[in-house]
Amino acid sequence: MHIIARRSWEIAEACATPEEVFLNRRRFLARAGLGAGLIAGAATGLVPLRAQAQEQAPSANVATTDLYPARRNAAYTLDRDLTDEDTASTYNNFYEFGSHKRIYKAAQAMKLSPWQIRIDGMVEEERVLDIDDLLARVDLEERLYRHRCVEAWAMAVPWTGFALADLVRLARPKAGATHVRFQTFFDPDVASGQRQSWYPWPYTEGVTMAEATNELAFLVTGVYGKPLAAQFGAPLRLALPWKYGFKSIKSINRITFTSERPTSFWEAVGPSEYGFWANVNPEVPHPRWSQASERLLGTDESVPTRLFNGYAEQVAAIYQGLEGEALYR
Ligand code: MTE
Repeated sequence: MHIIARRSWEIAEACATPEEVFLNRRRFLARAGLGAGLIAGAATGLVPLRAQAQEQAPSANVATTDLYPARRNAAYTLDRDLTDEDTASTYNNFYEFGSHKRIYKAAQAMKLSPWQIRIDGMVEEERVLDIDDLLARVDLEERLYRHRCVEAWAMAVPWTGFALADLVRLARPKAGATHVRFQTFFDPDVASGQRQSWYPWPYTEGVTMAEATNELAFLVTGVYGKPLAAQFGAPLRLALPWKYGFKSIKSINRITFTSERPTSFWEAVGPSEYGFWANVNPEVPHPRWSQASERLLGTDESVPTRLFNGYAEQVAAIYQGLEGEALYR
């Protein structure tokens, strides 16, 4: 057997593709007659940060710049320095544009305006809102949040956005709605990753109503005092800082209220590795690596991971009585 020695944070492939997907992908590529070189390229994991130093971060291309920077909400503080903007802007997970971290150039192909968001399912009135209409109905604020990827890297960023609870209020869900499901656009002409048919596109995610209305659940429209750049998931993404980063779905164009627990993208891809709850817990390892510590983007410093990514005070109560559930994967 060929064993590659890796440092603990050097995980072979992102969010991080489970073995069964590797196998399916190999079968697909074999059927398509593609060679081993392409397979090796497609499966390449983390791109060393040093190789990306001095990259310029592309900026956003939406016409709402006058809303930024927004007032900072001082309630959300950090225990670490903010990640340098260029570093965070050039090291992204956005599988729609590739299964590696250097998708920021490819992501600029997204057409961010007009952008509509469909709000449907168990709501008093289904509707389609333009992102600018939505922005006109909410108060934007800036929050400093930690972000912990399931791959064991972490960053700290100043998101601008509004509470997901405000969107829930605007949507007027019916009494029986227990969950909120989020969906990303589907456009394989623009997003080449979506031509990879072994993934269950479009990317979807879901949370319970208790999670959606928790004060920390944040719909993000900007970062670093500017409108969100495409690679961060413009024009609308989620930030759920107590959960692994894959729950923070990017480029949302549909929000559905439902009485069923949604199956998320990664859960569908690898149910033995990624679950519905995905709350950060250093004591529950991923089946293929430890979650005890995390590598900070920019410095490569290794720091201990904290339960709920350090947000236990705000969110632990949500999970009381759910101890039998797989809350931490
Ligand atoms: N959303 C979509 N639509 N597609 C993705 O591939 N990746 C997730 C999440 N949201 C992903 C997504 C993962 S695994 C992480 S860690 C974060 O986005 C990364 O966010 P960042 O690139 O802004 O750091």
